[in-house]
Amino acid sequence: MKISVIGCGYLGAVHASALAKLGHDVVGIDIDQAKVDLLSTGQAPFYEPGLPELLSQTLATGKLSFSADMSRARGATVHFIAVGTPQQEGSNAADLRFVEAAFDALVPHLSPGDVVAGKSTVPVGTAQRLAARIEAVGAHLAWNPEFLREGYAVKDTISPDRLVYGVQTDDDHTVGVLDEVYASVLAQDIPRVITDFATSELVKVAANAFLATKISFINAMAEVAEVTGADVTQLADAIGYDQRIGRKFLNAGLGFGGGCLPKDIRAFMARASELGAGDALNFLGEVDSINLRRRERMVDMCREVLGGTIEGAKIAVLGLAFKPDSDDVRDSPALDVAARLSELGGHVRATDPQAIETSRRLRPGLDYFASVEEAAREADVVLVLTEWREYRDIDPVELDSIVSVRSILDGRNCLNPVQWREAGWTYRALGRP
Ligand code: UGA
Repeated sequence: MKISVIGCGYLGAVHASALAKLGHDVVGIDIDQAKVDLLSTGQAPFYEPGLPELLSQTLATGKLSFSADMSRARGATVHFIAVGTPQQEGSNAADLRFVEAAFDALVPHLSPGDVVAGKSTVPVGTAQRLAARIEAVGAHLAWNPEFLREGYAVKDTISPDRLVYGVQTDDDHTVGVLDEVYASVLAQDIPRVITDFATSELVKVAANAFLATKISFINAMAEVAEVTGADVTQLADAIGYDQRIGRKFLNAGLGFGGGCLPKDIRAFMARASELGAGDALNFLGEVDSINLRRRERMVDMCREVLGGTIEGAKIAVLGLAFKPDSDDVRDSPALDVAARLSELGGHVRATDPQAIETSRRLRPGLDYFASVEEAAREADVVLVLTEWREYRDIDPVELDSIVSVRSILDGRNCLNPVQWREAGWTYRALGRP
């Protein structure tokens, strides 16, 4: 099948190459010529395990190409919209300007019977409004939300937990076309939910709101654990054995960040308020506050172990990305804490296996180092803020000879306290004695 994918960021670049791998003839279209040039030579513009290999493999078969020219969408049967919907400046609502621009540019190239499938996360009601615009040219709209996680994007696209098609009542044509697109995914017995536009839009934000709530729930328990001497990691294990609760997404620590969870819960609250259902989502405001409070707590804990003053202290920060296996620092708790410590006069020496360049663009004033050894040199305290494998595996005895003071703060509950304490370190963590 001939397919176009409009928008080649995290979502679109992975979606386009995964569809080519599934055997389709795919063109990825993006207004950013530099991104198109990189992707065309098999290079990913961001760090995503497995993506460079998938790109080179599918480009070599001739099934995948990239372009900045929207007319290349002409002749495709399905057009996926995979552009970003960031948070509006000065408001909680989603900024739909890239979605609008993608539709403006695409509509002149549509033919009757084409399917336009939205993958971007949008406020409920958007699909209904956009459908009217493409119906005029005889094209059909579907909303087909995406649930991929950064770091696992390729796997999540090829073997998702479920597919959701939001379509107009009785639009069997669109369902048939999407079934053909996803034939090899459906062959793995992956569940498929066919529903209306509003439900499909809500499924996406409801899923992210649930995940954010689960993380903030355990972080709220961490706050209580901190004043009672309890251990939130053991609490998470114990409640997680209950299969109705489950252990996943109960890792207490610095909380959630990234380009999705924070802005999605805010946009969801904003949209519900517009629709008169704001009260239903008031709790998400609390979820957001609990999450942001963890960053303040980390700064306070750092001040405590430094004897009351951050100013002038040498602070090693290990980890800047919003989570491991990513170079994404959008709304990253780790980068935020590093920046706050620097603003308070600390000499922050930061490192990350992948996110130094992306961090430098957002926070050019911090000092970045390529290795743990350099970042930790003569440090008064070491902070682990993203749980990269290589930080979880650090040997406290080896780090001992590099730092000035053996003091470690575990912002992700990813280290073994016994091992660090036995090696003579002061170990502190969020929600743990
Ligand atoms: C999230 C969702 O998990 C995806 O299903 C969704 O498709 C995506 O947003 C999106 O809307 O596009 P992602 O942002 O890649 O995916 O990251 P997650 O793995 O969900 O992690 C989000 C944040 O929560 C990270 O900062 C992570 O460190 C934090 N987290 C996660 C915790 O603090 N504790 C946990 O137990 C789990």
